[in-house]
Amino acid sequence: MAVIADQCPDVQVTVVDINQNRIDAWNDSDLSKLPVYEPGLDAVVQRSRGRNLFFSTGVDEAIAAADMVFISVNTPTKTKGLGAGQASDLRWVEACARQVAQSAQGHTIVVEKSTLPVRTAEAVKAILSAAEQSVDSSQRTFSVLSNPEFLAEGTAISDLESPDRVLIGGEDVVAIDALASVYAQWVPQDRILRTNLWSSELSKLTANAFLAQRISSINSVAALCEATGADVREVAKAIGTDSRIGPKFLQAGPGFGGSCFQKDILNLVYLCRHFGLPDVADYWEAVVKVNTWQQHRIARLVVQKLFGTVTGKRLAILGFAFKADTNDTREAPAIRISKDLLDEGAQLAIHDPQVDSQQIARDLKLPASTAPDAEAGPTRAALSGEGTWWPTDDIASAVQGADAVIILTEWSQYRSLDWSVLVSLMRQPAWVFDARSVVIPAEVEAAGLNLWRVGEGEP
Ligand code: UDX
Repeated sequence: MAVIADQCPDVQVTVVDINQNRIDAWNDSDLSKLPVYEPGLDAVVQRSRGRNLFFSTGVDEAIAAADMVFISVNTPTKTKGLGAGQASDLRWVEACARQVAQSAQGHTIVVEKSTLPVRTAEAVKAILSAAEQSVDSSQRTFSVLSNPEFLAEGTAISDLESPDRVLIGGEDVVAIDALASVYAQWVPQDRILRTNLWSSELSKLTANAFLAQRISSINSVAALCEATGADVREVAKAIGTDSRIGPKFLQAGPGFGGSCFQKDILNLVYLCRHFGLPDVADYWEAVVKVNTWQQHRIARLVVQKLFGTVTGKRLAILGFAFKADTNDTREAPAIRISKDLLDEGAQLAIHDPQVDSQQIARDLKLPASTAPDAEAGPTRAALSGEGTWWPTDDIASAVQGADAVIILTEWSQYRSLDWSVLVSLMRQPAWVFDARSVVIPAEVEAAGLNLWRVGEGEP
C-alpha cells in the first residue's frame, strides 16, 4: 500500500489495523522502528507518510470513506478442526468482510489481497450481498476483485515498483478498470492481466507451488549429486541455460521457508482432495515432503560427520532468517535443523544479523541460555545431553570453541569470512557445513577445515 501511495500521489491510502502498537510503530518518526524490515521501505514511507499515506486504528471511518478496500490480513494454515494442518484459516478474512459490510458507504470495491483458497471470493461476496439486501443499507453496494500479491521479501519494493505482472480477477469490468487505472500510473498496460475471479485466486497458489517445486526438485538432485560425485551448481547451470527451464530458483539449499510456499501448497493439496483429485494432491504434497526431508537430512549428516554424536558439542549456526535481507523466520529451515540438533544434545551458538533472540526462542520453543565459557569445558547441561542455545552478536564469538559452523542463511557477510582466522578459534578437527553455497571452498580447505557443501559430491 505504501508503494501505491508513493506512485500515485493523487490517491489517498489509509492503512488500518486494530493493533495500536503496530500502528504507532508505522507512525514512528524513527523510520528504523517500522514493524517490517524491508530494504527501501523506509524511504517509501518517508516520501508519502502524512502526504497521502496514513496509518490509523480508525477502521470503521476509513472503510466508510473508501472507494476501495483491500483485505490484506493473515491467512495462516488452520491448526485445528476441519482441514487442520492444510486448509487456510479464513477467520480474519471473514471478520474483515463483515466489518466492511457494516461500515461501507455508497459503492465500495473490495479487493482480496491476502492469499486465499480458490472460491473464497464467494464467501466474501455472500457476506457483502447480505449487507446490500439489509433494510438499513439502501445505499450500500459492492464489487469483489482478487488482486494477489507476488512480491518476495527482501526485494519487495523493487518487485512492486516493476512487477512482472499485476493480476486482477473479477467480473465487474468497471471495478476492474478502476483498480487497473491505479496500477497503470506506473505499470505498463500489457503487464496488467485481467482474469476471472477463480483464475486469479488459483494463479497465486499455483505460482508459489511452481516456485517451491523447483526448489524441491533441485534439492532432490543435490542429494543425488552428493551420492554420485556430481556438483549441483554445475547441474543447475547446465539445465538453467536451457531457455525453456531458465536459471532462476535453481539454488540448492536447506529447503524453502517463508510465510507462503508451504502454506500455499498445503492449501492446494487440501483443495485437490476436496475436489476429488487425490493423485494431484499427492503430487503437490511431495514438494513439501522433500523440503522437510532435506532439512532433516542436513541435520542428520552434521551428526554423522561429527563422529555420530553432537551431544555436548558446540556448533555455530550462522543465519536464522528464512533467507537473507529479512528478519522473518517463518518456516525458516534453521528452525527444523536447529531443533534436530538440540534433540541430539548440541550446544548451539546462533548468529543472525537481523533476527532477535526472543524470536529464536519462540521458534525453538526453548529459552536462550547464557553463553558458556568456551575455555571452561563442557557445562553440566552439556554433559547431561540437554540441548541448549544462546544468541551471539558477532561471528567470532559464535565460532569460538565450536566443532562446526553451519551456514543456513545466505547473508552477504558470510561470503567473506576469514577462515584462516576463524579456524584458530575452533576445536579440531573442525567442519564447515555450507547449506547455502556461500563460502569459497579453496579458502575453507586451505585453512585446514573439513567442508561439506550442499549438492557437492566427491568426484
Ligand atoms: C515467495 C514468492 O517468491 C513470492 O512471489 C510470493 O509472493 C511470496 O512467496 P518469499 O517467501 O518472500 O516469496 O521468498 P523467496 O525469495 O521466494 O524464497 C522462498 C524460500 O525459497 C527461501 O527460503 C529461499 O531461501 C528459498 N529459495 C529460493 C531456495 O532455496 N532456492 C532458490 O533458488 C530460491
